[in-house]
Amino acid sequence: MYGKTVLSTALLSGLAAAAPAAQSGNVAGYTNAAATFASYTPTSLTTIPTVFGPDSQISAIRTPAPSTGLYSPGTLRTSLPTGSTSHGPFSGSATTTGAVSNTPANLTIATLPPNPTATYYNPNGLLQNQEPIPYMPKGGLGTNGTLPRYMVESDFDYESITLGLYQEWIELDLFNNAIATFSAADWAAAGVTPEEVSLIQFMGQQEQGHATLLSNMLGQSAPPQCTYNYPFTNVREFLDYSQILTRWGESGVWGFINHLDSREVGQLLSQSIATEARQELIFRQLMGMHPMPVWFETGIPQSWAWTYLAPYISSCPANTTRLAWQNFPALHVVNQPNPNRFSPNDTAAWERVDNRTSSPATIPPQNQSCINVNATGFGCGPAIAHNRSEPLSFPGRQVLFEWDAPGQLVGPNNSYVTAKGSVAGAPAFVAWVAQLNLTYTPLTVTGPNTGYTYQPNGTVYQGGAPIVNDTMFVALTDTDLFLTPFNLTMINPHVVALGIYQAG
Ligand SMILES: *[C@@H]1O[C@H](CO)[C@@H](O)[C@H](O)[C@H]1NC(C)=O
Ligand SMILES: *[C@@H]1O[C@H](CO)[C@@H](O)[C@H](O)[C@H]1NC(C)=O
Ligand SMILES: *[C@@H]1O[C@H](CO)[C@@H](O)[C@H](O)[C@H]1NC(C)=O
Ligand SMILES: *[C@@H]1O[C@H](CO)[C@@H](O)[C@H](O)[C@H]1NC(C)=O
Ligand SMILES: *[C@@H]1O[C@H](CO)[C@@H](O)[C@H](O)[C@H]1NC(C)=O
Ligand SMILES: *[C@@H]1O[C@H](CO)[C@@H](O)[C@H](O)[C@H]1NC(C)=O
Ligand SMILES: *[C@@H]1O[C@H](CO)[C@@H](O)[C@H](O)[C@H]1NC(C)=O
Ligand SMILES: *[C@@H]1O[C@H](CO)[C@@H](O)[C@H](O)[C@H]1NC(C)=O
Ligand SMILES: *[C@@H]1O[C@H](CO)[C@@H](O)[C@H](O)[C@H]1NC(C)=O
Ligand SMILES: *[C@@H]1O[C@H](CO)[C@@H](O)[C@H](O)[C@H]1NC(C)=O
Ligand SMILES: *[C@@H]1O[C@H](CO)[C@@H](O)[C@H](O)[C@H]1NC(C)=O
Ligand SMILES: *[C@@H]1O[C@H](CO)[C@@H](O)[C@H](O)[C@H]1NC(C)=O
Repeated sequence: MYGKTVLSTALLSGLAAAAPAAQSGNVAGYTNAAATFASYTPTSLTTIPTVFGPDSQISAIRTPAPSTGLYSPGTLRTSLPTGSTSHGPFSGSATTTGAVSNTPANLTIATLPPNPTATYYNPNGLLQNQEPIPYMPKGGLGTNGTLPRYMVESDFDYESITLGLYQEWIELDLFNNAIATFSAADWAAAGVTPEEVSLIQFMGQQEQGHATLLSNMLGQSAPPQCTYNYPFTNVREFLDYSQILTRWGESGVWGFINHLDSREVGQLLSQSIATEARQELIFRQLMGMHPMPVWFETGIPQSWAWTYLAPYISSCPANTTRLAWQNFPALHVVNQPNPNRFSPNDTAAWERVDNRTSSPATIPPQNQSCINVNATGFGCGPAIAHNRSEPLSFPGRQVLFEWDAPGQLVGPNNSYVTAKGSVAGAPAFVAWVAQLNLTYTPLTVTGPNTGYTYQPNGTVYQGGAPIVNDTMFVALTDTDLFLTPFNLTMINPHVVALGIYQAG
């Protein structure tokens, strides 16, 4: 850090004499702006090509892709969605009920002191231990030559990756379902171009690979694809649902990936979730939202991701491997900010297509919609980035809640049952999970299962992005336990209800 500062200062002062700042004043406090170029004037545009060939012929040979052996492609579990979708709620009755469980030893995990081996500190920037080979500092996991084993290594790993597979399967179906059901005119009406439709189609194909990868790391009991009950009826609602679904899919993995026993599984999973993160960002852009109005992407516990996902799975084939995670009661944000409005302050109560917590916003009357508006600060059609003059939400905003009682049937074949945390008492706080932070605000209870709070203020770091922004997570809790990203799961025994907040 220090060395770099010295270098760049020398470099900049050397250049400053020859090349005055190309432009100054764009960044407050950045006073020594200088560039290697004196000034830059874009060349005026005089020619736009209209003939695109013939190309130059370059040196090339025929190179068949290997079809056998170590370097042949892996076998796909399925290249296509296999279930039927949007068939409405499941109407039969379940043969098995409840999460996979045995005999839990305790109701909560107690706090322990730091691990006695967690003491490394480097005061001088030098190597503290002998290097095993040149250019290889000592330490790390899986760096001593042990053969990698790309398989789950514990019940924790197994249940986490199985949850991930349930998520990949719905994405495989969801993106394909939209491509299969919406016409070119439907997409165009939402401002989505044919090239962007192709991108969504490609995202569907990515899920073939993700579902295969996760299946392989689980083995023979990996669940198959299920049948889904989607909340959307038009392109805009599909995009909104998809930005929410990929948000909890991504955050669900960030929440557990570093707790996995198998580093090998974590390695491959991170390489698939990086792709999912891009999908989330792209769906936000297609919704005309700021692609990433945060400095950090947050992580959530597995039971949260499962709570958000389960209501959209109507049934699974017989003998599908079940999950051990919890389904929390739904927390409804009555005045959930509507991203389809140019004035989100005008959002009325219950502007959601249905009462599942992760369902999309309804589309307001045309004279209140931002979808086709072409005015900076007010439009919300597809774009790389939009500024919203009127933010979706802001610190101090009153947020109205309703929450469900536990004991409701949800998920595939209505075979899971919602439950409060194991020791959760009456709700007293709203927990806001975003970026690196868990923030609590007091809940004011106004009636049976209704109440409100005010959106918290505060930034992750001084002067930085507000903590509460983006599509993020809210829970009702009975206590305000202090937790950080690596022990957030300890919140679960205290959760009364769980929802999504559309903060930006
Ligand atoms: C259950 O909790 C007690 C008290 O915190 C602890 O001593 C014990 O080790 C826990 N049991 C298991 C199996 O984790
Ligand atoms: C190599 O590292 C692994 C952890 O990554 C450890 O479990 C194992 O004991 C180590 N083996 C040797 C021979 O040091
Ligand atoms: C159900 O799944 C288990 C493995 O998860 C398998 O051993 C068993 O044969 C399956 N039963 C049926 C009827 O498919
Ligand atoms: C959601 O539930 C509320 C009452 O809790 C109701 O007023 C509203 O109409 C419901 N919305 C839909 C789309 O069913
Ligand atoms: C939109 O039109 C409705 C009735 O057609 C009217 O009540 C409402 O005030 C209008 N809203 C705006 C923002 O112009
Ligand atoms: C949006 O408005 C600007 C100027 O107001 C105009 O140049 C541009 O062509 C418009 N774009 C569309 C898609 O209508
Ligand atoms: C976009 O919003 C940022 C932050 O609120 C603001 O600094 C910037 O001026 C806005 N840009 C435009 C083009 O409106
Ligand atoms: C939205 O409401 C807040 C709080 O009342 C207010 O401060 C803000 O000015 C409103 N936004 C607009 C664009 O009117
Ligand atoms: C969320 O981020 C957007 C984009 O940076 C910004 O315009 C907005 O003010 C932020 N929201 C809040 C509540 O600060
Ligand atoms: C948020 O906190 C900042 C810093 O204390 C303050 O300037 C701002 O007015 C607060 N916003 C609200 C809505 O209270
Ligand atoms: C948010 O988390 C960061 C990183 O742990 C911490 O430094 C900061 O104090 C937290 N901010 C708030 C307002 O809690
Ligand atoms: C969670 O971790 C933080 C340290 O990052 C610690 O201060 C806090 O006490 C822990 N919470 C619990 C309930 O163990």
